[in-house]
Amino acid sequence: MGMLKETSRSVLLRRHTVESRVTDYQWKKYRISLLLCFVFLICYIGFGSPTRFSLFKPEVTIESPKHPCVSAIPPISRSEYTSRQNRLAQILHDLDAEAYIAEPGAHTQYFANFSTTDWKLSERPLLVIVTPHQTGKDGNIVAKVSLLTPKFEAPRAKLLALPSTPGYIEWAEEQDPYSVAVEALQLKSAPNSLNVGRKLFIDNSARHFLYDGFQHALAGTNLTVTSAPKEINQLRERKSDSEIEIMKCVNEATLLGIRHVHKQMYFGMRESEARDMISTVFADGGLSGGGCLTLFGDNAALPHGSGTNKALGQSDFALFDCTANLYGYWSDVTRTVALPSSKISSDNWNKWSMVHLAQEFAISAAKEGVTARVVDEHARFALRLAKLDEYFTHRLGHGIGLEVHEAPYLNGGSTDIIQIGHTFSNEPGVYIEGLVGVRLEDCFFINESGQAEYLTAGAGGPSKSPYEP
Ligand SMILES: *[C@@H]1O[C@H](CO)[C@@H](O)[C@H](O)[C@H]1NC(C)=O
Ligand SMILES: *[C@@H]1O[C@H](CO)[C@@H](O)[C@H](O)[C@H]1NC(C)=O
Ligand SMILES: *[C@@H]1O[C@H](CO)[C@@H](O)[C@H](O)[C@H]1NC(C)=O
Repeated sequence: MGMLKETSRSVLLRRHTVESRVTDYQWKKYRISLLLCFVFLICYIGFGSPTRFSLFKPEVTIESPKHPCVSAIPPISRSEYTSRQNRLAQILHDLDAEAYIAEPGAHTQYFANFSTTDWKLSERPLLVIVTPHQTGKDGNIVAKVSLLTPKFEAPRAKLLALPSTPGYIEWAEEQDPYSVAVEALQLKSAPNSLNVGRKLFIDNSARHFLYDGFQHALAGTNLTVTSAPKEINQLRERKSDSEIEIMKCVNEATLLGIRHVHKQMYFGMRESEARDMISTVFADGGLSGGGCLTLFGDNAALPHGSGTNKALGQSDFALFDCTANLYGYWSDVTRTVALPSSKISSDNWNKWSMVHLAQEFAISAAKEGVTARVVDEHARFALRLAKLDEYFTHRLGHGIGLEVHEAPYLNGGSTDIIQIGHTFSNEPGVYIEGLVGVRLEDCFFINESGQAEYLTAGAGGPSKSPYEP
């Protein structure tokens, strides 16, 4: 009996512990559910719809300065380089030219995928030489690309990432590089043996001693050495679809960078501080060579700056004129901004609005077939309405691409006709010395239908107000 009692007691005891474990287990489960609910609630409030109040996000959503296009967009393809070279060869053939010669710069970037970033200019010539050749049956003209290099630099020259392997022509220190090139490419024994009217084209930005060198090497022949004609320069002026895509990306990313820094500005900060911030943002965003002219208050009255390191005051505008590079292509974006608590005078506010209007007038005039001068005139007309035209002291815009400033230009004297594929900056401004400077700049291109489209359109396009760059 005693034993029985003992057994039932231990059974009871065991049952009790089992039950308590069960309740323990249920309580834990309950606690976990409660915790999950709580976490969910916090997440819901914290990361919920942007219109809802938010615990984790600041009131203003700071857009990431990293534009996804920067890593998504492809560089210029090998086949595009080949077609550029062959179009050049066709022009050389049509214009009775033996060769086109360029030293590192925008033109070698365009035809051969390298520039002064990859090869610094020195007194020893390193040259890209393109010669036209007729292919067998169909008579197509194709390009042969050669690289003239100092002999001792040849191993380094061979590391340049040309789109296809060129012919290497090496000149030793004791040789005349130009005569070596003329011999290697048999430029003297051209199809027309007398060479009458035949030419050698040298890139317009090449240094003068290259002209002298080739002229000397060709002395006694009828070949003339001359600057590359407009037919060749125009190849680079009109952008292809893939170039436009890269330029959209770099301009949008630049604008996002400016907006990002705008949100972090405060009164008392120095021009240099804002300038450093934005350079970092560009570099972090995958752009190279990025930077801005950063001018506060009356410092912006000199379009290219004054060199003092002004602190931002409550009544100051801040002007950012920024460029950055992607695959060799440049952006150019200018914003004149104020902080939400700035106290901008109504006069200065009015100037901002007039510059904004001038930008709108200009873009409405830019179309295929229009003379460049007319676009500049439209911006000036808008500023005249407020008698501000005398303070718009520079041209309206410039071509842009592999160079920040390149032909054609939008100025009062330009008779260039705007064509599909052209890209320009649209940057009216008002500068009153000692008082204020306002400039707004977005680049645009002429699309397939002959209309102007902003390269910043994908990021919202032009500034809406000094608060919304
Ligand atoms: C052009 O050069 C870059 C390096 O500067 C290289 O990554 C790229 O592959 C080259 N493009 C072609 C088509 O060879
Ligand atoms: C240059 O052209 C002239 C004819 O205009 C010809 O008489 C002369 O032989 C040519 N010189 C050379 C080196 O081919
Ligand atoms: C060209 O731009 C205009 C105006 O910006 C636009 O309406 C048109 O659709 C564009 N055309 C093409 C082919 O993208």
